[in-house]
Amino acid sequence: MSRPSRDRHNGPAKITFSVTIHYRAQSLWCAIVIYTRMNEFRNVLQVTVSHMKGRLMHPRIVQGGMGIGVSGWHLARKVSLAGELGTVSGAGIWLVMARRLQDGDQGGHYRRALAEFPDQAMAQSILKRYFLPDGRQGKKYREVPIMRLRLKNGSQQGPLSEHLENLMVTAGFAEVWLAKEGQPGVVAINLLEKIQLSLLPILYGAMIASVDYVLIGAGLPAQIPEALDLLAQHRPARYLITVEGSQSHDQFAATFDPKRFLVAAPLHRPFFFPIISISLVATILDRRKGGRIDGWIIEGPTAGGHNAPPRSKKLGPDGEPEYGPKDEADLAQISALGLPFYLAGSYGGPEQLAKALELGAVGIQVGSIFALSRDAGILPEIRNAVLDQWRGGGVTVRTNPRSSPSGYPFKEVDLAGTVTDDNVVRQLICDIGALRTPYRQDNGLLGYRCPAEPLDDFLTKGGKIEKTGGARCVCNGLFATTGCGQVRPDGSCEPALVTLGTDVRFLHDLDRDYGAEDALDYLRTPVSHPS
Ligand SMILES: Cc1cc2nc3c(=O)[nH]c(=O)nc-3n(C[C@H](O)[C@H](O)[C@H](O)COP(=O)(O)O)c2cc1C
Repeated sequence: MSRPSRDRHNGPAKITFSVTIHYRAQSLWCAIVIYTRMNEFRNVLQVTVSHMKGRLMHPRIVQGGMGIGVSGWHLARKVSLAGELGTVSGAGIWLVMARRLQDGDQGGHYRRALAEFPDQAMAQSILKRYFLPDGRQGKKYREVPIMRLRLKNGSQQGPLSEHLENLMVTAGFAEVWLAKEGQPGVVAINLLEKIQLSLLPILYGAMIASVDYVLIGAGLPAQIPEALDLLAQHRPARYLITVEGSQSHDQFAATFDPKRFLVAAPLHRPFFFPIISISLVATILDRRKGGRIDGWIIEGPTAGGHNAPPRSKKLGPDGEPEYGPKDEADLAQISALGLPFYLAGSYGGPEQLAKALELGAVGIQVGSIFALSRDAGILPEIRNAVLDQWRGGGVTVRTNPRSSPSGYPFKEVDLAGTVTDDNVVRQLICDIGALRTPYRQDNGLLGYRCPAEPLDDFLTKGGKIEKTGGARCVCNGLFATTGCGQVRPDGSCEPALVTLGTDVRFLHDLDRDYGAEDALDYLRTPVSHPS
């Protein structure tokens, strides 16, 4: 504090006056500073408390995982920063990173994340192989090897190639690391159980980046809890895979040994929420031994993406599966298992959130409302085409029981210029292969086939012709939707395939160009009566 100087000409009265003014100004300044600091402190405290609550009490809103690349790290980060659960999609994530790096890694994000990966030699070798500082210049993407297990000497168990493992571990790490970078919010990773060969390496990478939650559906994720426990201790894990035509003594398995990745720090074991559709699945998962399940996401048949197959094999007049009361989850039975649960599928509104809470859920998982926000990965031109269609009378979303090679019904948006448009002809080619089905060959070895691959190949591998009618290459279609579709020799790009839930009523209440925060504000609007 500076002292008042004595002024020869003005005498003691003036000195007292100026000292008083000086001290008053200083006190006022101090008061302003203290007030501002207190406000800042209060804000920090509020954010920290809300994030701690998120850790202790699960968040109310889960932004569902949306492949491929629709719920990227950017969207998940926005949701997480706002105090809810942001989910990065782990489906095909290794190829998303490899392709984004070839597109010049706009913003330098993947390079920033890879610079934090514990094994720098590995991170550098990924960059050396895929990063193109000036992008691809319209050329095709470099091929990434298709997933297949390395089974030596007739063994039925083995890992993926080292290169694929490295790519999957680093990509799982990078996506979660970017979503969590410098902020205390919680982040989940979503995987499709059906893509079994990729599960362990991606989970391990995500865990190195301290992922908080793991959400897995499209299959029975019974082996995941134990795998998470093992990976958290850097111990080898194996994943028994489903193999068509396998015999009772067969035990085909994908193995993964974290030792090679030189990560020494103890890893946090994330919460695990399987995505289920009916109570029977919850009961089966609950009775299984080994590892902890922390809660459920109960997803109904109107949700975007893949849906659980209906109990009835009958198709409706429009060729869509018919879901009935037997396909509805018995919430009382699930509650009796004593774990928290979220409801998903047409819950994208404040009334629906209130209804879910009234039904005993801790909250909702929503997808479509975020998929159509500007923070998701869908190309802006595709998003705009969907919004135009909605304005022009409505968006048609069909549940196609045959299109996905996974065997699950898949929601498809009818959209001109995409694979649902009969005028769009696509050359049959299988070069991603994420949804290929492993099968037992006559010689006992493992083979892989996909009903959407060239017909001759599929039949030669023993595939049944009746599986091929209507099968689409979901892999290539979904990559094209987020702007990383492959370029074909004639210079054309793979056509997109767009998925959404059947309920997009939220569009009535949101501006055309809305972001993730707007969607959250809307979902959190107080309501008096649940719908
Ligand atoms: C574009 C899109 C892609 C999706 N992809 C996946 C996925 O890869 N894995 C998954 O478990 N669920 C996926 N879903 C489902 C969502 O995670 C969420 O459960 C669902 O969208 C909720 O229903 P709603 O669309 O009515 O909000 C997807 C949904 C959409 C809209």
